[in-house]
Amino acid sequence: SQVYYLDYGVLAAEGWSVTDNDLFEKASKADLDPDQYGRIVVKPGETILEAAENRGFEWPYACRAGACANCAVLVKEGDIAMPGNNVLSDEQVNVMNARLTCVGVPVTEEVKLIKDVQQLEQFSDLRL
Ligand code: FES
Repeated sequence: SQVYYLDYGVLAAEGWSVTDNDLFEKASKADLDPDQYGRIVVKPGETILEAAENRGFEWPYACRAGACANCAVLVKEGDIAMPGNNVLSDEQVNVMNARLTCVGVPVTEEVKLIKDVQQLEQFSDLRL
């Protein structure tokens, strides 16, 4: 699967909202660094966090076991299965579309996600 990622810090800096529908289009036209915006291929057997690390990126994490929210992302397109989520609430998963990269695997050919969202207020009580 191909995972397109956009760092939440870019949204904060540009004044973009997580609910904007053209985020990835705007990001593709902005002059962003590879750690802010790009695409990784996730191989079978890899979690999204492992895939990012295996391609040389440092994405946030703490427990690596679905028990904090440090690795949380918001999915904008596609979907990520999350066996072993022990921390996100139904509302965070179903309404915000939050997922955990440490236990998350893509279940669609293409996924678009906003990473580094653990700094959002909605996750403040879950951070380690
Ligand atoms: Fe703690 Fe993913 S690193 S839930």
